[in-house]
Amino acid sequence: MKGIVLAGGAGSRLYPLTQVASKQLQPVYDKPMVYYPLTVLIAAGIDEICLISTPHDLPRYRQLLGDGTQWGIRIEYREQTKPAGIAEAFLIAASFIGSDDVTLILGDNIFFGGDAFPRAFSEFKSGATIFAYHVNDPERYGVVEFDSEGRAISLEEKPKQPRSNFAVPGVYIFDNRVVEIARHMQPSARGELEITDINKTYLQRGELRVVRMSRGTAWLDAGTSSSLHEASAYVQTIEKRQGMKLGCPEEAALYRRFLSVAQFEKLVSMMPICEYREYLESVAIEIQRTRTFGNLSL
Ligand code: G1P
Repeated sequence: MKGIVLAGGAGSRLYPLTQVASKQLQPVYDKPMVYYPLTVLIAAGIDEICLISTPHDLPRYRQLLGDGTQWGIRIEYREQTKPAGIAEAFLIAASFIGSDDVTLILGDNIFFGGDAFPRAFSEFKSGATIFAYHVNDPERYGVVEFDSEGRAISLEEKPKQPRSNFAVPGVYIFDNRVVEIARHMQPSARGELEITDINKTYLQRGELRVVRMSRGTAWLDAGTSSSLHEASAYVQTIEKRQGMKLGCPEEAALYRRFLSVAQFEKLVSMMPICEYREYLESVAIEIQRTRTFGNLSL
């Protein structure tokens, strides 16, 4: 399974923050936004990741994330020159995907809690798996409708009159046929290759699995100044209460054994003295003490 993080877009709703750093590089409490989706992929056991962003922003991502070896993974980079839609990612990254299955995650989607992802990843065999999350404002998202037996029966992108309150979050697991499907798609009225159209293709073929995310799972949006602030406050609240951080790629890489304890400790020792380093040091101590790798939601 390969992973794609799509971190494109102008981030105009975060102006003037996005004048110098793109949306997915903005801090969500104590780390850059892109760390959260990256951690979801690493925690799922994905160690080959392609990050897609604009030609303007890619150098900053390379600077932040490098080639991934520090985390025991491989990170490649590809350019999206114009905002031509989420589904274009499969064309841009076709050579990276090769003949593998692929998970796409949007660089501005932040998740916490629940076991929907680990279960869906381990159960995935073929077709497509997407998720459904109950929200207040479904018209802002892709919306999935279920029949009385809980089967998905329709998908619509940002409908004016949503048929349900279930939004589709920005995590999509596809088999390799997604590349071919993307190749034959037409742009929508807003000129984009829509991820919802890909999902509809799988739905029509009877090969779409929609996993409902449980109550209490957090899916946060950080696309506006106030939602960015709320996301930061949320992360701070949980981290402070639990003494565990969300969205630490280093920790996920350790739990997934992409890094040995020795490699992890070396990596941490090279960090400047800061809260982040102190936290990772405490993770290493805990692992040395208990000799167990937590199966945690990271
Ligand atoms: C995109 C997708 C939408 C999905 C959302 C999740 O919307 O088009 O189907 O529900 O991401 O964040 P956008 O963020 O591009 O408006």
